[in-house]
Amino acid sequence: MNSQPKLEILFRRGEIETTVKRLATEISRDYRGKQPIMVGILKGSFVFMADLMRAMDCSLEVEFVRLSSYGKRRETSGRVRVVHGLRCPVKDKDILVVEDIVDSGLTVSFFLDYLRRRNPASVKLCVLLDKQACHKVEVPIDYLGFTIPDRFIVGCGIDFGEKYRNLPDLYTMEFEE
Ligand code: IMP
Ligand code: MG
Repeated sequence: MNSQPKLEILFRRGEIETTVKRLATEISRDYRGKQPIMVGILKGSFVFMADLMRAMDCSLEVEFVRLSSYGKRRETSGRVRVVHGLRCPVKDKDILVVEDIVDSGLTVSFFLDYLRRRNPASVKLCVLLDKQACHKVEVPIDYLGFTIPDRFIVGCGIDFGEKYRNLPDLYTMEFEE
C-alpha cells in the first residue's frame, strides 16, 4: 500500500479541552480526600494524561506502563504484552487507569486483570475515546470522553506507525487501497 492516508478532523482542540475539563472535575470530586495513582498506558495516553492531571485539583501520583499489541499494524493482534510493567506497589492504593482509545477492549481488559492480581484498594478506568461497537470483551469504563465510530484515529498522542502523535486535534484517517 503506497497511497497517502487522508486525515479528516474529528474533534478540535477546544472540544477536547472542554471534555478533559469535564472528566477532571468528575474525577477530582470522586477522589476527594484520597490520593489516586494515575496509571497511563504508554505511549498513546501521555498527551491525554498530561492534560487530564493538570486539570485535576486533588492530590495524585502518576505512573506509566507500556503495553503493546498493535506493532506496526492497524488492527490489534489480540495478544497483549507488558513491555514495561508497574514499578510501584499498588496494594491498597486507589488506581485510576488512563487510556487514550479503546477498540476491541483487549488491551485495557488485560491490564485491569494485571492490576487486580496486585490487590489495589480500587481500580477505575478513564478513557478519552471509545469505539464501543468494536468491543470483543466487556470494558468497564468509569470516565469516558467520547464514544466514536469504528474509524482509525490519530492525533493528541495517538499514532499511526509512530507518527501523528503531535497533532493537537483528533483526526480520522482514511486508507485508500
Ligand atoms: P484494543 O486492545 O483493541 O482495545 O486496542 C487498544 C490500543 O490500540 C490502544 O491503546 C491504542 O494504542 C491502539 N488503538 C486502538 N484504536 C486505535 C486507533 O484508531 N488509532 C491508533 N491506535 C489505536
Ligand atoms: Mg494505547
